[in-house]
Amino acid sequence: MSRLIVISNRVSRPNKSGNQGGLAVALAQALRESRGIWFGWSGETTDAFTGHIGFAEDQGVKTATIDLEEQDVDEYYNGYANKTLWPLFHFRIDLAEYARDFEGGYNRVNKRFAETASPLIEPDDVIWVHDYHLIPLGQMLRDRGLKNRMGFFLHIPWPPTRLLVSLPHHSKLVSTLFAYDVVGFHTEEWLESFRHYVEREMGGTVDGDYVTVGDRTIQAIACPIGINAQEFKDAADSETAQAMFGKVRASLQDRPLVVGVDRLDYSKGLEERFNGYARFLKDHPEHHRKIVLTQIAPPSRGDVESYQQIRATLDSLAGRINGEYSDVDWTPIRYVNQGYPRDELAGIYRAAKIGLVTPLRDGMNLVAKEYVAAQDPKDPGVLILSRFAGAAMQLKDALLINPYSPEEMSDAILRALAMPLDERQRRWRAMMDSVEKQDIRWWREVFTSRLMAVEREPAAAE
Ligand code: G6P
Repeated sequence: MSRLIVISNRVSRPNKSGNQGGLAVALAQALRESRGIWFGWSGETTDAFTGHIGFAEDQGVKTATIDLEEQDVDEYYNGYANKTLWPLFHFRIDLAEYARDFEGGYNRVNKRFAETASPLIEPDDVIWVHDYHLIPLGQMLRDRGLKNRMGFFLHIPWPPTRLLVSLPHHSKLVSTLFAYDVVGFHTEEWLESFRHYVEREMGGTVDGDYVTVGDRTIQAIACPIGINAQEFKDAADSETAQAMFGKVRASLQDRPLVVGVDRLDYSKGLEERFNGYARFLKDHPEHHRKIVLTQIAPPSRGDVESYQQIRATLDSLAGRINGEYSDVDWTPIRYVNQGYPRDELAGIYRAAKIGLVTPLRDGMNLVAKEYVAAQDPKDPGVLILSRFAGAAMQLKDALLINPYSPEEMSDAILRALAMPLDERQRRWRAMMDSVEKQDIRWWREVFTSRLMAVEREPAAAE
């Protein structure tokens, strides 16, 4: 059996607390079940790049990491990945910054990944590269002569062609995807946008899962990532979760809880969420003192200005709403800038009558699935979900809303609070079926079996 080599910007630290984005959580689980190496950036910086590889074994996952220079982190991670690609791919061209240094740093770091990872790779290994930080890596590995089966998975949306063409050298970047054998997206929508781009901008052709540009044909598929549903269900029953559940419930004094859990990121629609909740308070004075929103939002990418801005905006917005509606013994928003370990989080989810997951755009969103998995089947809560999250394609029995509309959010909260038990159970069951069927193992197997089935030796891409 071939070894799996996973390469991503960040290598998971499973012990660290907090919900630090779906990718890290999902890959740790996927790798634990296979035997291979997870290669990535250590998260550390050095004065000068050494190429030294640090090996470790973390909860059964073998990791190999490199340090980067400060300039690398500035230009590649903060720069091209998070100031250019992240906003653009989340449809926020207003926030996207285009700078030659960022692009240069991005290519330099991808080359550093290729140079340091390639000696670890054996001819029979299967390589799986993840996310927008490392799009050109496959091409760079091919340039070094690697003929391995190679897949790429994008964990964020693929933007519409009309937005993507605003990126300088966009076709150069996209053409590097053709060095892979299989390219995966979470939803049909992102896949369709990719195909559209290939047809319109690259003169390529699409035949089912096969996409051809020039003499290179790759498979492009939609394959939604899931969670380890069983593990999450168990987490919700754990002693830690129960203790957290008790603590949260006691603090609520019978008030229903609405919960949001997100990295502090403008794509998560937190400002719109607070405004939607404020709208609910404005429209429904009868619910004053009778509801609490707990928003858990661990800070993220703090060196990037747009993240500093969203943080400041939310601080003042939460303060304003609380100032307007609070009473001496009631605060409508509990705004928490820290993450929690999975078991505690599961207890918080279970204590919440409503899960409010309202990103403006999201590749998938695993919080929605975790909220579902943590519910008590006898008395499940209601998921309010943005129709612009990839997860909405699967969780059709959530209350699907447009996150830009405070009225829709307010109406959905009202409806969820009043939803009868049998309707909650029916909706939850349908969602739970999908969460259990298309779980993390299913996702990995669908993708890797495609990759393993690639028979030919891929020609080195030009
Ligand atoms: C999203 C991305 C991941 C990333 C995660 C956390 O889920 O798709 O690639 O790891 O956010 O962001 P960070 O910048 O802290 O790695």
